[in-house]
Amino acid sequence: MNPACIVITIDGPTASGKGTVAHRVAKHLGFQYLDSGALYRLTALMAISKGVSLQDEAGIAALARTLPCQFQHGHVLLDGQDVTDAVRAEQIGVAASQIAVLPQVRQALVELQVSFRNGVGLVADGRDMGTVIFPDARLKVFLTASAEARAGRRYKQLIEKGIAANMEDLVKDLTERDARDSSRATAPLKPAPDAIILDTSEMNAEQAVQQVLEWYAEAQRAM
Ligand code: DC
Repeated sequence: MNPACIVITIDGPTASGKGTVAHRVAKHLGFQYLDSGALYRLTALMAISKGVSLQDEAGIAALARTLPCQFQHGHVLLDGQDVTDAVRAEQIGVAASQIAVLPQVRQALVELQVSFRNGVGLVADGRDMGTVIFPDARLKVFLTASAEARAGRRYKQLIEKGIAANMEDLVKDLTERDARDSSRATAPLKPAPDAIILDTSEMNAEQAVQQVLEWYAEAQRAM
């Protein structure tokens, strides 16, 4: 961990486009990128593959504490196996959201998340990057979009991958997941008091990237 490493946090609800935006901003600035949701997804995948119940808080926290994961050139490895596609499955996202309510699991993942803070800069995306993990971030963005806009984007992604999808079900799933992520007692999904809200309902990814880069340049000038 390098405290001098500049951090930009991009938090927001499911399918708000924060992953795409955070990744592109990191690439543009030559910063590292942390997809914290992937860590919750990997923990859920590990629990399912080991047959650990999603309600077993201590059991899942133990798995999270020594998560054998690696991030290599856009690929995610778990226990040496390429799980890049498996972690993105809807069902794993739902399981990740369920285990993310467990305080011991969140605590078990703190150190791993903070360890990504090295080099010149880091762009971290998730739910509690600005509120809990990197409270001293240089710039905090809360990226959001209407449930309909987010479901529409998810629908397009699934259809492009040849996976059948239904808009009504997607809006329902997103709304349920938002409710669970926002209402949990520990580190709920909410903007940090010093976060800037970016509503991307009427914006494409590149416009959102340019807006974040502008805010970052302003934050740097203000230093
Ligand atoms: O961003 P995502 O869809 O990959 O995240 C999957 C789930 O993980 C999400 O529903 C809630 C949880 N999560 C979290 O609680 N805190 C984070 N910083 C990132 C993700």
